[in-house]
Amino acid sequence: MAGFFVPRKIREMEKPMTFTTQLRSFVLNHGAVNNPYLDRFSEGRLTDEEFRQFAVQFFFFVKHFPRILAVLLANTPNDEAADELAMILTSELGDGNPKKRHEYLYHKFLRSIGLDPVVAAREQRLHSTHEYIEGLASLNGHENYQVAMGASFGLEHMAISMWDLLIPGIMNLKKTVPEFKQMNTVYWTFHRALEEQHEEAMMRALDDVPAEAEASLQKGCSEVLDLLEGFWMGLEEASNSNPLNVEAGFAELTTV
Ligand SMILES: [Fe+2]
Repeated sequence: MAGFFVPRKIREMEKPMTFTTQLRSFVLNHGAVNNPYLDRFSEGRLTDEEFRQFAVQFFFFVKHFPRILAVLLANTPNDEAADELAMILTSELGDGNPKKRHEYLYHKFLRSIGLDPVVAAREQRLHSTHEYIEGLASLNGHENYQVAMGASFGLEHMAISMWDLLIPGIMNLKKTVPEFKQMNTVYWTFHRALEEQHEEAMMRALDDVPAEAEASLQKGCSEVLDLLEGFWMGLEEASNSNPLNVEAGFAELTTV
């Protein structure tokens, strides 16, 4: 996701890109970015209610993102990587000006589609949303740091694809649905632009990782993407369900 951790350290002696390239290809072909929900979303084929449900469920991720980053920071063994992560976290929290926290951009988006952030925060998380957020936090705090790295790699590499599916759908709805005409899309376009700055770092992410860590990296990457696929498919299933099933799909209210 925008702002996710990527270490910048590059080894003098570069190792072949084979593993990194393979892992990147695994990410780009994964159901986390190739699924019926995102396909539909990218074309703006959502009802107003489905779009609001997406906005609420994604809000939980937005709200928890600093905590998820902080878990990774607590689990990061080297200073250089931790420093970079601290910078990302600081930026996420407004660089010393809490009114500039990125979450507030999301509040503007919510209000512009008729949702009060305070009310939205009290909605129930879908079970799949809960699994994604808590699973991601748990992977970031994994006792094997390479697993946490793999999860970061997976999210970093899927991020551009995700924004490029979400933004066209959002813009389409803004253009075609009268009640979304005033939609504030800055949260989305701002993060897409941030992502550009990560591209170079993304390609170097695993250059200094030893070969014996590959299985752990693969594990973290694969697990986080499965959870993310679950997040999207949870929204798809909730859309397809009748009201009773939708209710059954909600997790118990959890403390946030
Ligand atoms: Fe952000």
